[in-house]
Amino acid sequence: MTIIYLDNSATTAALPEVAIAVKEMLTENYGNPSSLHGLGIKAEKALGEARLQVAGLIGARPTEIYFTSGGTEANNWALLGIARARRRQGRHLITTAIEHPSILATCRRLEADGFEVTYLPADARGVIRLADLEAALREDTILVSVMSVNNEVGSRQPVADIARLVHSRSRAVLHVDHIQGYGKIPLNCHEAGIDLMSLSGHKIHGPKGVGALYIKEGLRLEPLLTGGGQEAGQRSGTENTAGIAGFGVAAQLAAADFARRTARMQEIKLELARRLVAEIPGAVINGPPPEEGAPNIINVSFPGVRAEVLVHMLEQRGIYVSTGSACHSRRESASHVLQALHLERWRQDGAIRISLGALNRLEEVEPTVEAFKECVQELWSL
Ligand SMILES: Cc1ncc(COP(=O)(O)O)c(C=O)c1O
Repeated sequence: MTIIYLDNSATTAALPEVAIAVKEMLTENYGNPSSLHGLGIKAEKALGEARLQVAGLIGARPTEIYFTSGGTEANNWALLGIARARRRQGRHLITTAIEHPSILATCRRLEADGFEVTYLPADARGVIRLADLEAALREDTILVSVMSVNNEVGSRQPVADIARLVHSRSRAVLHVDHIQGYGKIPLNCHEAGIDLMSLSGHKIHGPKGVGALYIKEGLRLEPLLTGGGQEAGQRSGTENTAGIAGFGVAAQLAAADFARRTARMQEIKLELARRLVAEIPGAVINGPPPEEGAPNIINVSFPGVRAEVLVHMLEQRGIYVSTGSACHSRRESASHVLQALHLERWRQDGAIRISLGALNRLEEVEPTVEAFKECVQELWSL
């Protein structure tokens, strides 16, 4: 059975070029970048190359990229690192109600530690209101954290407008969780006025377990990991050289192919969304209208259909999608994002996320729509 993989916001397949780079680092270029000998220097050079590649896609300087164990660590570090470095300046943070759990759970930790967090609401399209942000900014606000693209519904926040507001009305640092936006939407960290940005390798056809935090030059935050002083003393631990090299290649390929990839994803997305709504009675898109959100994410519900059941039925036909976000899909609890969007209960229970990557093709639309139609009809006839 041929597989149609439509769960790229959960994770992606590594591209062949990425796998080659990873293998080379594991088997040939295996030195420790801290070693003084030739193999160490060669590994150090590979890290430098990857730093350049990862920085390129967001317009950062390579010296502003700090490699981490993934997006979760980058998000934890941004929040905890700023809170610890600036606790004398203030104890108030602002984020949104629809962030990833790696932000929200870290906010809960900070609250337990005496910080105060404001959670901005999102409208039905999954976008925050600038007026709410403006009203929430205070003298003691030390950090604002927003995601560029929501992982469940694909909504995009107006990051550049948010940055202007934050910097003109406060002394707060702006952190952007760009894990779902990286390689999908154009965003230049310097031009947009972003201070910190989290990235992850496995959402862009790179390896899992590797990510990065962009830290604007001159900005100070406390390290999470202390030890041997790797990553300019900011993130200790022997570098995941294979993962980092693979991440670099994935970023390089995403940058080189950016326009073509995003245009193709958008074309597939619009066609899928149009046909699902037109051909399955009662189907509704959750979150932003298809032309507005990220080019690769559709969230859709069908009346009288529970998402978990549909996911399994589609899998039997070789089609891989998820319910809401992958982080929730094995748990019973409802999605906090769909709740924050105030969707009716049946839409929350029935929400299916279809997410595209660089390997999807327009020809996959037809069999996907047919499979959805068959499965939904079958469930309705029971
Ligand atoms: C918006 C967002 N932030 C953070 C993460 C966590 O990244 P990682 O899987 O690299 O830890 C994810 C992963 O799904 C995500 O979608």
